[in-house]
Amino acid sequence: MQRINKHIILIGFMGTGKTVVGSVLAKHLGRNYIDTDKEIELLEGTSINEIFLNKGEEYFRQVEMDVLNSRIDSNIPLVISTGGGIVLSEDNRIRMQDSLVILLQATPEVIYNRIKEDASRPLLNNGINLLTQISDLLEHREKIYKQTSNFIIDTDKKEVEEIVSEIVEYL
Ligand code: S3P
Repeated sequence: MQRINKHIILIGFMGTGKTVVGSVLAKHLGRNYIDTDKEIELLEGTSINEIFLNKGEEYFRQVEMDVLNSRIDSNIPLVISTGGGIVLSEDNRIRMQDSLVILLQATPEVIYNRIKEDASRPLLNNGINLLTQISDLLEHREKIYKQTSNFIIDTDKKEVEEIVSEIVEYL
């Protein structure tokens, strides 16, 4: 449990389970839990979809960065689940360096099955060739996810509890 006094930040593509794993892990560790997307929606008083639609991705990314920064500033170690694109900003990647960053991975097919009925993700919302969109975006981001993380977990065939146990063991 040497790494326990740091923030634990979950990163990874949409549909890899960051939110559910983060909330179960936080309960297990008795920590406060933050989900950057939820925080953004609370701050803005509207959904991520609406923010992308009305104010654009650039605005969303700025709010996302502000939320990440303010939470990392907390003296109390947190569990923080992030949106799949948070690692695109170099500033965010640098800011996460003092935290324990855990990457949740899944194959495009598994991600597709998990999110195909969910219309809450603006970057995948036109629905055309969803599997191809996922594969392309994942390929584009894969290296960056890996480079940003301290520990990687494949989530494909695992239950939430199993993933949480792996993280706890790593700590
Ligand atoms: C995004 C992922 C979403 C959300 C936004 C953009 C991305 O979060 O932040 O739609 O760029 O991958 P989830 O990873 O929680 O779906």
